Amino acid sequence: MRIYQEKDYNAMSRRAASVIAAQVVSKPDCVLGLATGSTPVGTYQQLIQWCKQGDLSFAQVHSVNLDEYYGLSPEHDQSYRYFMQTNLFDHVDIKPENTNVPSGLAAEPAEECARYEDVVKGLGYADLQLLGLGRNGHIGFNEPCDEFPLATHLVDLTESTIEANARFFASADDVPKQALTMGIGTIMKARKILIVASGADKADAVWKAFCGPITPEVPASILQLHPDVTLVGDGSALARLMEDKA
Ligand code: GLP
Repeated sequence: MRIYQEKDYNAMSRRAASVIAAQVVSKPDCVLGLATGSTPVGTYQQLIQWCKQGDLSFAQVHSVNLDEYYGLSPEHDQSYRYFMQTNLFDHVDIKPENTNVPSGLAAEPAEECARYEDVVKGLGYADLQLLGLGRNGHIGFNEPCDEFPLATHLVDLTESTIEANARFFASADDVPKQALTMGIGTIMKARKILIVASGADKADAVWKAFCGPITPEVPASILQLHPDVTLVGDGSALARLMEDKA
């Protein structure tokens, strides 16, 4: 596992963007697994800048996003499709037809989950999967539970996640209660994992993920078994982990 402890959010974003750029430069037709949340926004801004400068091209890249709120349309300004369009896709040369996000409006979520899993599998899974980290240790929307879910599935969001994400909605009542998410098995099939964490409120989750027991109660802890993980964080998110490793 590689760990980069960067001095602040901007340095973290630049480091994470460098890892993604290295993937795209070394394999221009790669499959990128992408994530939402506030943590990767700066990473995407850096990628956009390099793309606009002509140093990076997503023209041959396919993307697969981790998750989507169930019940939100792609046009809803808190949907993850909308997030990806406004924070990355609309500003780089990725082909719209090469981008994949689960559909939040599917009438039959189980069918949509199976279709999405087939899409990711059909692309050969991600060459590089970008992940954020929930305060409760979730990755994608794989919430703490009794077993590691294998494939893309519909999940009930926990109170902790609803509360954490309420800042993006008018109130906690407006946060969807369910989401479609790649499974832990889908994520673990990625050939490389890049996980980003920022801020003191992630320090415990980072520590539990990488120093605690491997347990579905901390979904990210399974990454201890992945052969190629890069963790990029700012000083405060990695503080507890680095203390432990010192
Ligand atoms: C959401 C997303 C996750 C993300 C997490 C952390 O729950 N489904 O993929 O990692 O939020 O978000 P943030 O980066 O805003 O803390």
